[in-house]
Amino acid sequence: MNDTFLKACRGEAVDYTPVWLMRQAGRYLPEYQAMRSQVDFLTLCKNPKLAAEVTLQPVDILGVDAAILFSDILIPLEVMGMRLEFSEKEGPVLSDPVRNKAGVERLEIPDPEEDLPFIFDTIKLLRKELANRVPLIGFSGAPFTLATYLIEGGSSKSFVHTKRMMFQNSPAFHYLMEKLSTTVSSYLSAQIKAGAQAVQLFDTWAGVLTPFDYAKYALPYVKRIIAEVKKEGAPVIYFANDCAGILKEIKKTGADVTGIDWRIDLGDGIKKLGKKAVVQGNLDPCALFLPHEQIEDRVKDILWKGESARGHIFNLGHGVLPQTPVENVIALVEAVHTYGRKP
Ligand code: CP3
Repeated sequence: MNDTFLKACRGEAVDYTPVWLMRQAGRYLPEYQAMRSQVDFLTLCKNPKLAAEVTLQPVDILGVDAAILFSDILIPLEVMGMRLEFSEKEGPVLSDPVRNKAGVERLEIPDPEEDLPFIFDTIKLLRKELANRVPLIGFSGAPFTLATYLIEGGSSKSFVHTKRMMFQNSPAFHYLMEKLSTTVSSYLSAQIKAGAQAVQLFDTWAGVLTPFDYAKYALPYVKRIIAEVKKEGAPVIYFANDCAGILKEIKKTGADVTGIDWRIDLGDGIKKLGKKAVVQGNLDPCALFLPHEQIEDRVKDILWKGESARGHIFNLGHGVLPQTPVENVIALVEAVHTYGRKP
């Protein structure tokens, strides 16, 4: 069994630096595109047989050291009572955004196993199909990032509705974060009970907050979720995109592993988190457009910098982009496996 990824999460000695990639399943793979020409995205997410198939594609094609459940962070918002659509142009659209106390009150706290059975069926099916080939990662959006989608009604540039609610209607904002935290805790715990061997909390938009506001409006909820989910015994990874300005606060999350985006040098990130940290990251996803030798140079640099942490899991600094050439992603994984061997 390849448990290198799980060992690295726990900060244990490994033979080589393990690698997986955020958004390793997706549109850059022709095999994924073939599947998507048959079914729409949400149907794919809700069909355990198809979702499991798409989860396994990058494991077979790239040879990564972990699989990540194919789903989306916005799926639980549907069973909280929101209408969710993915439009080709705009990305996710949530109708009737939550902007006040009444909106928060309408949201239901789901019972994950009861309301999202396909998630747990997919996890169980994947554990069977993976047969311990590589570990399976489950995931959820972190409450602040989920709150931005609920409040904005989709993606945003300025997050003006979110910050306005945060500042002008703090009680309603905190009430929303409470409901989301309860949901995320039970959702992740249920994923681990069903067979997920590690979980990642995606805080894609945490980096739009000032350090002061991150500490006040987001961090307490992240801490609470991580403390709760850790009781299940599986490692918890916390990834905040654009984390450089808030790393001092992120140090307090209690996560087993901290994901780092590409905007900060990995060595500097480790200095800020302390040498006891286990880190994940942080190649710029656009570095995959470079010639192979230059991808290798960047891999070596990141591997070398990763050595100063207690543990390092190689990843991109954010998700694989749809335009990425598959052969370059394969070359990346090979380079990590070649140059990441421990003497
Ligand atoms: O391979 C994996 O990483 C697992 C699957 C996964 C998806 N989304 C599939 C997906 C994961 C872990 C996510 C997380 C997710 N979803 C995040 C956090 C990570 C990040 O990228 O910051 C966020 C913010 C979302 C919300 C979301 N989902 C957006 C904004 C979009 C549209 C933009 C885009 O990238 O397409 C999605 C759609 C989505 N999620 C796709 C996939 C494969 C593309 C859907 C398609 O096939 O058309």
